[in-house]
Amino acid sequence: MIVFLFLLFPPPNAAASSYSVQQTPSSLIKSPGQSVLGQIYCSHSIPNHDNILWYKQDGGGALKYLGYLNMQHGYPEDDVKEILSFSGNGETHSNLSFPSVSRDDSAVYFCAARRAQCSRKPRRQRKNPDHAAARRHIRNQR
Ligand SMILES: *[C@@H]1O[C@H](CO)[C@@H](O)[C@H](O)[C@H]1NC(C)=O
Repeated sequence: MIVFLFLLFPPPNAAASSYSVQQTPSSLIKSPGQSVLGQIYCSHSIPNHDNILWYKQDGGGALKYLGYLNMQHGYPEDDVKEILSFSGNGETHSNLSFPSVSRDDSAVYFCAARRAQCSRKPRRQRKNPDHAAARRHIRNQR
């Protein structure tokens, strides 16, 4: 049987700051076709941050932006919206879920908290600049 490993960083209890972002569990092993629902958990306690962003890293490569949760609404990127979803509230937590995992989902998953933004603007207008900024940031880190 083939198994899959999800590694999350940082490990539980790793962060000391009260403004930390934490993820559990540190790893998760699944067989192809199994679901991962409400098991990959991200939490934070940063005031005024009500967006949680999710990233994927396979094989030690660059981070791939997966999308974000704004309040209770998940906005996965088009190329992943069929295979994963975000739940939670964004203000304190978000879960990453897969209805049916495949080999390609084996990776390290990261979350990040983002400051609240004007919620009256249409989604398209505030979405694109943010994505560009996130991608630039990742590129600069390499
Ligand atoms: C999110 O994950 C946590 C930890 O596994 C779980 O207790 C909680 O019920 C999950 N929430 C949702 C909405 O899936």
